[in-house]
Amino acid sequence: MKAIIPAAGLGTRFLPATKCTPKELLPVLNKPVIQYVVEEALEPRGVDEVVIVNSHEKPQIEKYFSPDQDFEAYLHAHGKDALAEKVHAAGALPVSFVYQDDPKGLGHAVYMAKDKMDGSPFFILLGDYFVPDRQMCVNMQKVSEEHGGASVIAVAPVPADQVSRYGIIAGECVGTLTGEEAQDIEQEGAVWKVTGLVEKPAPEDAPSHLFIVGRYLLSPRIMDLLATQAAGAGGEIQLTDSMERLLDEEEMYALVVDPAEGCDTGTPAAWAATNARMALRDAAQREAFLEALGPTDELK
Ligand code: G1P
Repeated sequence: MKAIIPAAGLGTRFLPATKCTPKELLPVLNKPVIQYVVEEALEPRGVDEVVIVNSHEKPQIEKYFSPDQDFEAYLHAHGKDALAEKVHAAGALPVSFVYQDDPKGLGHAVYMAKDKMDGSPFFILLGDYFVPDRQMCVNMQKVSEEHGGASVIAVAPVPADQVSRYGIIAGECVGTLTGEEAQDIEQEGAVWKVTGLVEKPAPEDAPSHLFIVGRYLLSPRIMDLLATQAAGAGGEIQLTDSMERLLDEEEMYALVVDPAEGCDTGTPAAWAATNARMALRDAAQREAFLEALGPTDELK
């Protein structure tokens, strides 16, 4: 089973930093953002390869995930075995690359990985967000198994005035992750049967206010639909539009998640906050972080 991470964007929100460094390689503490996403993608049972959809403008990502035996040998020779192990681990992750040099939209990016797929369902993880405990995709896999291997997406409530930024679902609550009755149909753990999907609707057209958070477990049939997908919102080939067409043929479910379980790295402010959150939850970094931060009342 495979997972796809689209990573061909220009990272314009982070310019000028992204003039030379792909946004995917910006660090959260001492690890690049995309490595957290790759490690999350490998967590569900059966996922054995991550396909990164890159652009040829960003060869540094491929270099990062390549083995570097000379550097490892150098670190070992200088007694830095723990660092050598970290360098080794990055190069040993089961990552492969395809390319999207023409930014035609998320659906187009995913389609670029078609030849890497083996006819099984696959995950898609959008790379501006990662879930430190890595359980979101694992839970989606559970929901899929409970519903005959159907496609499952993660969704969360969003205020009505923000629906036009996202893909929004229509559907009805049919249960919960734990099998108990849902107390609140928009609460974390609620499971919906999806009956419609719309990308970036105007608030008055939104069929619900549950938005797609960027974690998908999709039927391989989606690739056939993407092959003929016309451009949609923003003139882009939208994954959401092909998922809407998939509903004519197959069932799809949505798992309500708490997006705050994850860390956003999509803007400089969110990225900075994610670094702070991760430093605070890392036992080895927490004290040094708080000391370096100084008196927090001066920050307000
Ligand atoms: C993409 C998807 C959208 C989803 C969003 C989550 O939109 O098309 O359905 O809700 O990611 O971040 P984008 O952010 O690329 O505009």
